[in-house]
Amino acid sequence: MSYTLRLAVAGDMAEIMRLERAGFAAAIQETEHTFAERLRAAPEGCWVLAGEAGRLYGYLCAEFWPLQTGVDPARFARDHAAAETHDANGEEVYISSMVVDPATRGTGWGRRLFSDALAAMFARQPRLRSAILIVNPEWQAARRIYQAEGFREIGEIAGYFAAGDGARLPAIVMRRPQT
Ligand SMILES: CC(C)(COP(=O)(O)OP(=O)(O)OC[C@H]1O[C@@H](n2cnc3c(N)ncnc32)[C@H](O)[C@@H]1OP(=O)(O)O)[C@@H](O)C(=O)NCCC(=O)NCCS
Repeated sequence: MSYTLRLAVAGDMAEIMRLERAGFAAAIQETEHTFAERLRAAPEGCWVLAGEAGRLYGYLCAEFWPLQTGVDPARFARDHAAAETHDANGEEVYISSMVVDPATRGTGWGRRLFSDALAAMFARQPRLRSAILIVNPEWQAARRIYQAEGFREIGEIAGYFAAGDGARLPAIVMRRPQT
């Protein structure tokens, strides 16, 4: 099966939310309100893998931030308002979320979605110099993709992820400076 990478549109919302529910435990899913605001505030950062008849097989959401050297945990808050953090002139891409349909996982589409969406954003926005994200220590597939794509760990945000039974896991912060 082959899918088309394209920018997301408002009509993709039901499929994006289906993927979100399939991708994350209920406690860490983000809301439709959050995704709608991302689409409005940073449409050039929202990408989907489109199949036939409106079905989506993956999404990746990103926004642009002013480049800062340190790690400010407040900027990574779940369900934060993209309208308040996105800067159309920002030099760093923050990849806020990515999901591939469970039926499609393990066949290379996650790596392709991540690599191609980032390449497209850097090509369309030549001022971009860096990319940043956070990841749960237990998300092995995502960590393999980020490492393979040149991201390196630069810090942690303690207690970021709910992990069941009241436990919390840190978020690992990873950055890829542009070469
Ligand atoms: C992360 C995700 C998008 C990856 O999509 P995918 O299509 O399965 O990824 P790929 O098939 O491209 O595989 C990527 C790498 O992960 C590895 N991998 C896949 N599933 C794995 C697993 N369960 N455990 C360990 N490694 C795994 C693959 O072998 C591959 O590594 P390689 O290139 O060294 O062989 C997908 O698993 C997903 O949607 N997960 C739930 C949401 C999530 O974790 N999102 C990322 C954080 S926002």
